Amino acid sequence: MDRPVIPKEEFAARRRRLLERLGKDAIAVVPSGGLKVRNRDAEYPFRQDSDFHYLTGFNEPEAVAVFVPGREAGEYVLFCREKDPQAERWSGLRAGLEGVKHLHGADDAHPIGDLDKLMPQLLTGRDSVHYDLGANAEFDQQMLGWINQLRAKARAGIRAPHVIVMLDRILHEMRLFKSPAEVAVMRHAAQVSARAHTRAMQVCQPGKIEYEIEAEFLHEFRRAGMEPAYTTIVGGGENACILHYIENRAVLRDGDLLLIDAGAEHECYASDITRTFPVNGKFSVEQRALYQLVLDAQKAAIDQARPGKTWDDPHQAAVRVLAEGLLQLGLLQGDIDGVLKKGPENEDEPYRQFYMHKTGHWLGMDVHDVGDYKIGEDWRTLQPGMVLTVEPGLYISPAENVDPKWWNIGIRIEDDVLITEEGNEVLSRDVVKEVADIEGLMAA
Ligand code: GLY
Ligand code: MN
Ligand code: MN
Repeated sequence: MDRPVIPKEEFAARRRRLLERLGKDAIAVVPSGGLKVRNRDAEYPFRQDSDFHYLTGFNEPEAVAVFVPGREAGEYVLFCREKDPQAERWSGLRAGLEGVKHLHGADDAHPIGDLDKLMPQLLTGRDSVHYDLGANAEFDQQMLGWINQLRAKARAGIRAPHVIVMLDRILHEMRLFKSPAEVAVMRHAAQVSARAHTRAMQVCQPGKIEYEIEAEFLHEFRRAGMEPAYTTIVGGGENACILHYIENRAVLRDGDLLLIDAGAEHECYASDITRTFPVNGKFSVEQRALYQLVLDAQKAAIDQARPGKTWDDPHQAAVRVLAEGLLQLGLLQGDIDGVLKKGPENEDEPYRQFYMHKTGHWLGMDVHDVGDYKIGEDWRTLQPGMVLTVEPGLYISPAENVDPKWWNIGIRIEDDVLITEEGNEVLSRDVVKEVADIEGLMAA
């Protein structure tokens, strides 16, 4: 398989667009991710901050990107670690000041240790700072310190920023719309994940342990140079009804369903796929009835994922199909209006006993990606370039009002959907989801 990447020119184009949109009175400050201690001297694998990566493509910790429209000495300033042969022997090569200019397109580079000296100068004369306040407590303190230093000099005629603007306003709006290069990267991540889901169906059998199935995903991801975009969920039987089950230590039993929510991350872009299938390869009558219902709901929702529809339309379509099906199967009583009770704030709608989450989220560099879901009071209209998940489910925990024949059936079917001019493209389409296809694959 080709390994699509985001070309350097696209990173440069993003920076130009950000600088244009900031305007001459603003500045944007985006710190990198940091290393996190796992235990004593061991650290978690480094994952770059998504905003920082989106603008720089630079994959080192201890860096800060500053965007200063109109600055003569350079509009894209990168603070980073200096070259240090001793440190590099232990923890890997660094680009260094010259490297970030030549390799990563910085106009101006400074040692990260010079932040305190230079940031007040960069902030001087700017009215607003675009910055993700609240995401990094330590950096927040530094930022407020620099701004206060300048404000204290107001009488000397220094113009200090008086507004902090969250990055949502410009940067996250840019991230919401995926370019062709981003779509290619996401499609590739989804294809590798689909291959792993297919493999899981092929190797699954009663007696295996959930983590053995998880291992198939790690194998497929790593051999494609990827890592999990989030912790893999492998839940058999009642574990499928725990939405964020990640223990993955139980034995898979004959007659149970297995729910797997797993997606690979490629070049910092996520995929997010869920499939549910019978451990022994054959759905029981009850499992099949509920599975088909979730699948019908998912298809109805995907049909609503197209330009001109609102963010909430796929969810409403899924809920209606699920509610009608639950009534028909006798899991809910009454009529459809009673079961649905209009209004998103109605936490007590009866269907929520079995379906307690929304039908999707934006997908991109973050699994739950950035981007507003509402504009003012209204759900946002879907437009080409947006990518969202469509993931209805049903989770039937033991309860007095439920016939035991349904107990411990947990089902979710999740695909990654790109909105296109014509409608949509299901990026994760390579893994089967029809009952007959799943049973056929598992019997082969
Ligand atoms: N895998 C996380 C989610 O589906 O939202
Ligand atoms: Mn999801
Ligand atoms: Mn998921």
